[in-house]
Amino acid sequence: MASLRLFLSTALATPALTQTLYATSYNDHALTTLQLDGSSLKTVSKSYDCGSEPTWLTLDSANSVLYCLNEGWGGNSTITSYQTGAAGALTTLDILPTLKSPVASTLYGPKNANLAVAYYDTSSFGTVSVNNPKDLAQTLLETYTLAAPGPVPDRQDAPHLHDAILDPTRKFIIVPDLGSDLLRIYRIGATNVTQLPPVKALPGSGPRHGAFAVVGRKTFFYNVNELSNNITGYSVSYTRNTLEFTRLFDFSTHGPGGSVPAGTKAAEIVVSPDNRFVILSSRGENNLTFPNPAPTNGTDAELVSDPLVSFSIGGRTGQLTLLQITAAGGRNPRGFSLNKAGTLLASALQDDNRVVVIERDVKTGLLGKVVASATVGEGDGNGPNYALFYE
Ligand SMILES: *[C@@H]1O[C@H](CO)[C@@H](O)[C@H](O)[C@H]1NC(C)=O
Ligand SMILES: *[C@@H]1O[C@H](CO)[C@@H](O)[C@H](O)[C@H]1NC(C)=O
Ligand SMILES: *[C@@H]1O[C@H](CO)[C@@H](O)[C@H](O)[C@H]1NC(C)=O
Ligand SMILES: *[C@@H]1O[C@H](CO)[C@@H](O)[C@H](O)[C@H]1NC(C)=O
Ligand SMILES: *[C@@H]1O[C@H](CO)[C@@H](O)[C@H](O)[C@H]1NC(C)=O
Repeated sequence: MASLRLFLSTALATPALTQTLYATSYNDHALTTLQLDGSSLKTVSKSYDCGSEPTWLTLDSANSVLYCLNEGWGGNSTITSYQTGAAGALTTLDILPTLKSPVASTLYGPKNANLAVAYYDTSSFGTVSVNNPKDLAQTLLETYTLAAPGPVPDRQDAPHLHDAILDPTRKFIIVPDLGSDLLRIYRIGATNVTQLPPVKALPGSGPRHGAFAVVGRKTFFYNVNELSNNITGYSVSYTRNTLEFTRLFDFSTHGPGGSVPAGTKAAEIVVSPDNRFVILSSRGENNLTFPNPAPTNGTDAELVSDPLVSFSIGGRTGQLTLLQITAAGGRNPRGFSLNKAGTLLASALQDDNRVVVIERDVKTGLLGKVVASATVGEGDGNGPNYALFYE
């Protein structure tokens, strides 16, 4: 029995960590493929077919296709489809010219045959048929306007759609609109997508990204607000043709009563695969440190970092309890993602030209140390902004 226990604990202590990741960055105009092997994270290849400013990635693992959005500040905006092969190898299938500034997307519909896209600067919502990933086709573009600027006029001069999230029933798409303080709601029909009355977010909050959690028969939606640096929790109920959001709470990204330094901009939010935890990233705080993952002579032993903030979901109440504030692995953690098992978090540090992988305890939800780090997006500023596991 003792030897069996020893065997099991040894087996558990050395999980297989070999994994492929993708990261996008503006300044090298590349989609980088990385290989994680234990504590080593290395660039395998770079693709330049995602245009001048690669940003969001959506992976269709069932169909082995990766979609990459190009915000297109330095040229035209595009959406590139890639076939994924062994170890995540990428083959370009199609490049679709699209409206300026696509920033986030989600697959939807039968066989994931469509992509919904949020366009930030051009105030638009779009859909693309990806039924044939070798022949992408824009099927809808709707542009919105604001009658008057919002409470934060320099950021709320116009609608700014920032995310596209498929709901757990796969019947609706939620699009946080930072400029209009709205959650825009779209119902997915057999042949079209129709907009329903939007949910009003708190004035001046600037809804950016959101994520659903399903606990038993209850559904919750958590939205991170870039302008207020608050997180809003909603309970979601369904009727035949629509869904209704009831606000449960709204408090600081650092937990109830928390505060952030001036200039902070909350960014990403993810619900853990087991629907028990919420993790968000916050940019511009720069008041944590962590051990330099690649110390060399003449470099600091500790590096500056922004935080990742974890909350536990209070079962069927949907309430959140602050669990942990920990280093994101550097400055400006614009995008991060978890692996499917929830044991690893990949974080893209835009101001540090760095992608890190952080270990995570699935049972407690606690993030641990940076296990691997790589330089991505070499050059000044505007380094990696999203990192995604290929699995
Ligand atoms: C953008 O697209 C237009 C129209 O297709 C083309 O004429 C132009 O050269 C493109 N610009 C860049 C920078 O690729
Ligand atoms: C959209 O599709 C639904 C059925 O899925 C249909 O009832 C509705 O009329 C369609 N709307 C438009 C504008 O085509
Ligand atoms: C953020 O949440 C706090 C409560 O923690 C609240 O007092 C404040 O008004 C909220 N800010 C905005 C802009 O909604
Ligand atoms: C981070 O900054 C905030 C606001 O300036 C401050 O209240 C907090 O104590 C700082 N945290 C750390 C760990 O320095
Ligand atoms: C760091 O400095 C020490 C002492 O000068 C030297 O022995 C060592 O080789 C150096 N290491 C590297 C990686 O340069």
